[in-house]
Amino acid sequence: MTIKSSSTEPVLKRKKLQKIGVFTSGGDSPGMNAAIRAVTRAALAHKLKVVGIRRGYQGMIEGDFINLKSSDVSGILQLGGTMLKTARSAEFRTSEGREKAFQQLKKADIDAVVVIGGDGSFTGALIMSQEYDISFVGIPGTIDNDMYGTDYTIGYDTALNTVVEAVDKIKDTARSHGRIFFVEVMGREAGLLALTSGIACGAEVILIPEAKGDFNNLKKFLDKGYKNKETSGIVMVAEGDEAGGAIKLAEEVRKSHPDLDVRVSILGHIQRGGSPTAKDRVNATKMGVAAIDALIDDQKSIMIGLDNEKIVHVPFNKAVKLNHTIDFNLLDIQKLLNI
Ligand code: F6P
Repeated sequence: MTIKSSSTEPVLKRKKLQKIGVFTSGGDSPGMNAAIRAVTRAALAHKLKVVGIRRGYQGMIEGDFINLKSSDVSGILQLGGTMLKTARSAEFRTSEGREKAFQQLKKADIDAVVVIGGDGSFTGALIMSQEYDISFVGIPGTIDNDMYGTDYTIGYDTALNTVVEAVDKIKDTARSHGRIFFVEVMGREAGLLALTSGIACGAEVILIPEAKGDFNNLKKFLDKGYKNKETSGIVMVAEGDEAGGAIKLAEEVRKSHPDLDVRVSILGHIQRGGSPTAKDRVNATKMGVAAIDALIDDQKSIMIGLDNEKIVHVPFNKAVKLNHTIDFNLLDIQKLLNI
């Protein structure tokens, strides 16, 4: 930052943007590579230098940087995971860690950074930008789709399709054996993936953290199955549901309804992998380009979002502090159709 004098008051002028950093942080999600490619190539097109920061904030602290040319991001558009790797860094949560990270950015002459990640990653960026003179722009990348201010986060569409494909297969065997499957879907604090995949697969019951005490539905379904011997069905359980997950729920149901044949399937990290869908690739590309536009426009501490397909800028403090709302209408629809 330089201070420019004028005849009236001193005017603060930011250093001209010359070199940007880009990194992925937190849980990876399909489409992150497409975003890295778009950020890199858009920046190069604007004559900016690009540095890839490997292993998230941990790599920033350790100065694990690589210069990125256009050819370095060739052939990654269709790949799951993240070529820059990712991490959840405990050290970055300390002020000493952030000081080290800032010194590494300064040493590498990085003027501004694009962070691709979720809630925790943007909170880190917000804190660091308040402590040091460094601009961050965020691109939401998480399969949970739980960020306030954007309809969409990179990876959600691919994960949704992965869950649907898996549950369709589970349904075949559930039907053949007359079993009830408790299928656990990722989402420690968010139930959107469980909700939409449940709708897409015609689940009999959906349990998500946002809808508290919604066990009546489960009880109704189990009683109905028990009485009518309609014992095949899918109960979608979000990882973070108050019931404590699919294993715990299934144990309770085995006790309360011993005649039912109950099984558990935890889909786990397969939901985070795989080649991104076309939708994830297109949105990641749009957001990557928009992030560079925003930095050139001297924006800082904002997340790029999508509102009805249109790019929007959401201040970090709103994106991380406000809650993403769930469409409870979808739960009503699911209940209505399960007669
Ligand atoms: O935030 C994305 C997410 O996949 C959540 O849905 C899940 O609860 C969490 O990450 C798992 O994180 P980890 O892979 O670090 O255990």
